[in-house]
Amino acid sequence: MAGAPDAADFPPGPVAPPTAGLPLRLADLRPGGDDGLAPALARFLGLEDVLVTCSGTAALVIALTALRRLSPDRDAVVVPAYTCPLVALAVARCGLRLVLCDLLPASLDLDPAGLAACCDARTLAIVPTHLGGRVADAGPARIRARAVGARVIEDAAQALGARVDGRGIGADSDIVFFSLAVGKGLTIFEGGVLAARDPALRAACRDAASALAPPHAGWELRRSLELLGYAALYRPAGLGWAYGRPLRRALARGDWVEAAGDDFDPPIPLHAVGRWRRAVGVRALARLPDFLEAGRRQAAARLDRLRRIPGLRLIGDSPAVAGARGTWPVLLVLLPDPAVRDRLMERLWGAGCGLSLPFVRVLPDYGGRYDAVVPPAAPQDLPHARALAGRLLAIGNSPWLDDARFEAVARAIGRALVDA
Ligand SMILES: Cc1ncc(COP(=O)(O)O)c(C=O)c1O
Repeated sequence: MAGAPDAADFPPGPVAPPTAGLPLRLADLRPGGDDGLAPALARFLGLEDVLVTCSGTAALVIALTALRRLSPDRDAVVVPAYTCPLVALAVARCGLRLVLCDLLPASLDLDPAGLAACCDARTLAIVPTHLGGRVADAGPARIRARAVGARVIEDAAQALGARVDGRGIGADSDIVFFSLAVGKGLTIFEGGVLAARDPALRAACRDAASALAPPHAGWELRRSLELLGYAALYRPAGLGWAYGRPLRRALARGDWVEAAGDDFDPPIPLHAVGRWRRAVGVRALARLPDFLEAGRRQAAARLDRLRRIPGLRLIGDSPAVAGARGTWPVLLVLLPDPAVRDRLMERLWGAGCGLSLPFVRVLPDYGGRYDAVVPPAAPQDLPHARALAGRLLAIGNSPWLDDARFEAVARAIGRALVDA
């Protein structure tokens, strides 16, 4: 069939997930046990104290609420134009104003010149973002924040376990948050982690969390059942049904936003995480360091293979960050132009080999979907973020994508570049 992946190129195998998540074991799900997920995560992250929240989005809402209480005259939040739409929904939920900043060319780092233009005395926070496990340079955000009296919140939703010089990512900024959502390294189906450096800010975050996210039996029951379903299906035998089928349906409708999982709706659930899910997280977290190390080794070998493809650019940790050591849920690659990227995705996205798009577009370009929470951008605005959104592609680094199928993916990418 024209345009479909050649069966000979794709050895049979289970559907591979778009990111490398730590599978849960039956023993993780038993009742009772240590539910000290916050102290266990603080030890793992090398941070003094963390809060466990019901999602990464909730962590951001709590952080922004705490900051706003401390600086009520500031109402703007500067984020990269290419990021998760949930970030925009969180900013709107807090009644704050979203300001979009461009990226450096072919990079996940915020553009320092863009930051200078975006930030002023109304800026509450700047949110440098570590996408796909890659360590971005938060230094320019910290410099600009100091200059205007704002704070820095590092968005490490996709980078749990990333380090800089041996320290947990975000340790040098005011606040950092992580996601424990489905498919992330560690998951409790939906969850988040929030850490603030300064004790006063930490106390403000704690107060905001108690006020905004009290225990809620209904949400906890729902999330607990969803976690059981996830544990049952996030394995090679279950993913074809739970991930591959809905993905192919969305692709058949030509709905890339749904296929990429970028179709979010308000409102944002806000509630505490119950004891059982925290205990599941503690038990799974014990395996996370070894899982991340295996992912790092697999990624190193696969990046060596991808480096041999002429014309393909790999996105690594920011060269501006000495001692950066990200995690590897995905391998991020940049195609030379959007048409080549889109043709590849049309051919391979539904083939179950772990290809995906981190996000389909920059925030203003979702065709009206997020207009209520995202400021418009003129066609000439945000050129580097837009170029990245059009050319980026993620290859899931799950162990379930075996070497033979990864090689088939690498060959397909190489061929697409030769044909271009
Ligand atoms: C960059 C980024 N920020 C924030 C979030 C929100 O995290 P959560 O899904 O846990 O609410 C996500 C979700 O994937 C994300 O990718």
